[in-house]
Amino acid sequence: MKIRIGIVGAGSFSDDFIRLFLLHPDVEKVAVADLDPERRKASAEKHGVTELYSSLDEMLKESKDLNCIGIFTQRHLHGPMVLQALEAGKHVFSAVPIACTIEEIEKIVEKVKETRLVYMMGETCYYFPDAIYCRQKYNEGAFGKFVYGEAQYYHDISEMYASFKHSGGENWQRAAGIPPMFYPTHSISMLFGAINEYATKVSCLGLRDDFHTDEIYGEGKNFWDNPFSNQTAIFRMSGGGVARINEFRRVGCHKPSSFITGFYGDFGTYEHSILQHTFQRGISAVKWGLDKQTKMEYLDELLNSEAYVADKKAGTINWERAQSNMEYVKGFCAIQDKGRLPKIYRNDKPFSHFNSHPFLVDDFVRAVVDDKLPPNNAWDAARYMIPGLIAHESSLRDGELMEIPDLGGAPEDWAKLEYTKKDYYEEDVK
Ligand SMILES: NC(=O)c1ccc[n+]([C@@H]2O[C@H](COP(=O)([O-])OP(=O)(O)OC[C@H]3O[C@@H](n4cnc5c(N)ncnc54)[C@H](O)[C@@H]3O)[C@@H](O)[C@H]2O)c1
Repeated sequence: MKIRIGIVGAGSFSDDFIRLFLLHPDVEKVAVADLDPERRKASAEKHGVTELYSSLDEMLKESKDLNCIGIFTQRHLHGPMVLQALEAGKHVFSAVPIACTIEEIEKIVEKVKETRLVYMMGETCYYFPDAIYCRQKYNEGAFGKFVYGEAQYYHDISEMYASFKHSGGENWQRAAGIPPMFYPTHSISMLFGAINEYATKVSCLGLRDDFHTDEIYGEGKNFWDNPFSNQTAIFRMSGGGVARINEFRRVGCHKPSSFITGFYGDFGTYEHSILQHTFQRGISAVKWGLDKQTKMEYLDELLNSEAYVADKKAGTINWERAQSNMEYVKGFCAIQDKGRLPKIYRNDKPFSHFNSHPFLVDDFVRAVVDDKLPPNNAWDAARYMIPGLIAHESSLRDGELMEIPDLGGAPEDWAKLEYTKKDYYEEDVK
């Protein structure tokens, strides 16, 4: 089976994905739809795409041979579009988040269960080095029981003005003021995705944004009457541990934007501070015979720049280069299994979002072709998103502790997408 995918939304985020889908050995066709004729045209010219549509509706009506749809529209529009594509019998790849209401998420999960079509949320952070490390080590048992974790997504809204203005027009603030906890999947997926647990309760506090003049946050100013630019939630996890999640849109911090600062088990701890990652084994691990003594390791396999690793070893770190933003964070890092990717992706230019894009495209394509359940499937995506929706509710009630509904895990009889060496693409594949 070959993939024929229609990409909906030709904004800045989909650009790299159009290119990657076109390059993938199991993809036969890529079509593009956008409401904006200029964007359609620009995309067609840049990527040589010849099948263009003026909307998702038109694409679904006219192009009968597409078997997949990729949703890259504004963040609050995804739910109904995902449903529409599933109802038309298409497999769906969607930018985060899955949807912005519990009802829409329930309908998507039900539809995927009923049809067995693949739904995969394009969660870039699942493939970030710290998320991979914590997930792998936790599953190996190195942390012991999860007791506490902290993750965050920091993205100042002023950096997003241009994107919201382009797609929102004159009233762009209406969409820009989306509650931060309605976009919690970067931070939540990194932690929850590592421990395979879900949140049962939440208490969340918000920062009322009455100290800026861009008219984005506040009652009457956005579609949600959302007054908060920053929200901090404390979650009770199903295994008894506690997770702290920050979603900040007013913050004087640029990079990294999504990261785990601390992941604590009763036997081990991971900590991350900008360019340094560490793993420790604590006293319990010694007392219970897992280690002879406590220890601390520096995790260079999580650093994705050969230049940085070399400079670090030689003791010649150039802080100016480090601060000039991405200079020290380019390329795949050792913990990312780039050997499983099609050859054409392996030595490609560095991709943004820690080189997660080729892994996302490849996971989606392989899930569809091999009829496997991908990571960040509908059930995972629901468990990343519903806690944020309830957290926002809690912050409107000044931190009231609230129960979080859970839609359950994926069906046991749907085999998970997993890689072993034999599944790697042959060197000579396109
Ligand atoms: N790290 C990440 O995971 C990450 C990073 C950036 C963006 N995103 C997500 O990707 C999505 C796209 O981001 P962007 O910055 O490119 O957005 P954007 O607003 O610039 O582009 C969205 C495009 O969708 C088009 N569109 C809307 N409705 C449509 C319809 N019915 N049919 C056809 N086209 C339609 C719009 O015309 C617009 O050009 C957003 O949901 C965003 O949150 C994720």
